[in-house]
Parts: sequence; structure tokens; C-alpha cells
Amino acid sequence: MNELALQAIIQHYRTSEEGLVEILREASRQAGYLTPEHLAFIAKALHLPQSQVHSVASFYSLISLKPLGRHVVRFCQDAPCHVVGGRAVWEAVQAALGIGVGETTPDGRWSLLTTSCIGACSVGPVMMVDDDIHGNLTPESVRDILARYDKIGGAA
Ligand code: FES
Repeated sequence: MNELALQAIIQHYRTSEEGLVEILREASRQAGYLTPEHLAFIAKALHLPQSQVHSVASFYSLISLKPLGRHVVRFCQDAPCHVVGGRAVWEAVQAALGIGVGETTPDGRWSLLTTSCIGACSVGPVMMVDDDIHGNLTPESVRDILARYDKIGGAA
């Protein structure tokens, strides 16, 4: 992502501290992940300390600071999803992809992350695949859902 594209995002979400999360999120979405140079540019444009921008960027699971796979799974790890079977589904997702949390498959197809509540607790357990929310997950359903996006590996 070049500085012009980054500047357009910053202007769209206001040049203020309140817009910081949205700026970081949109820049991360467009660029795939944010580099130290991206963070420095945003900090300078918003007149904020780089440490503050980095701290915010590190906190949110929808903002990435490292390269991710072509598809990103974000699995909800909060209690309401956990108590309706989330743990078994989480294990099935890891088995289907053959990776653990924070990892990317060697072929670069998939990255697996966790997220806090995404506001879909009524249909938990829940995961996001790219920008799509999938709910009412079961250990049996996750392989079919993931396979709709791309080839999956790992143990069955
Ligand atoms: S706790 Fe999982 S979506 Fe709310």
C-alpha cells in the first residue's frame, strides 16, 4: 500500500484519535497487514505517538501486523460461544487446517486467529472466514464451510 492510499483512508475516517481504530482496520484490510512504516505514517498524520498507534494496532484482532494467508479464520473464543460447544469446534477447525492459533499454512492459503465476541452470540459457536460470519458451528460442519473457500489440509 502506498502513502496515497493510506492518506485516503486517513482522510475518510477523520484525522483524529477517534478514527484511529477504523483507519488501522481499513488499512490492514486493504494492505493485508500493516508494516512499521504504515504505523509511523498514520501516527504522524494523526499527531499521535507511534507507541500509541502500535498499541492500538496490536490490541485488535482485525488488525494484522504480519502477513496472513489468503483466507483468515477468526474463531470467537469468548464465554458465550465457549459454553455452547466452542471448544470442540475450535479443535475441529485446527485439525481441518492443520495449524494452531496465530499460524499460517505452509502453502499460504490459511491463517488461524482467535477473536473476542463479534456480536453473534445467539448463533454461537461462531467464526469469521474473511469477512463472512458463520454460526451454529459443529465439529462436523467446519470442514465443509472451510472447503467452500479453498483447499484445506491437515488431519480429518
Ligand atoms: S461470544 Fe462469540 S459471538 Fe459473542
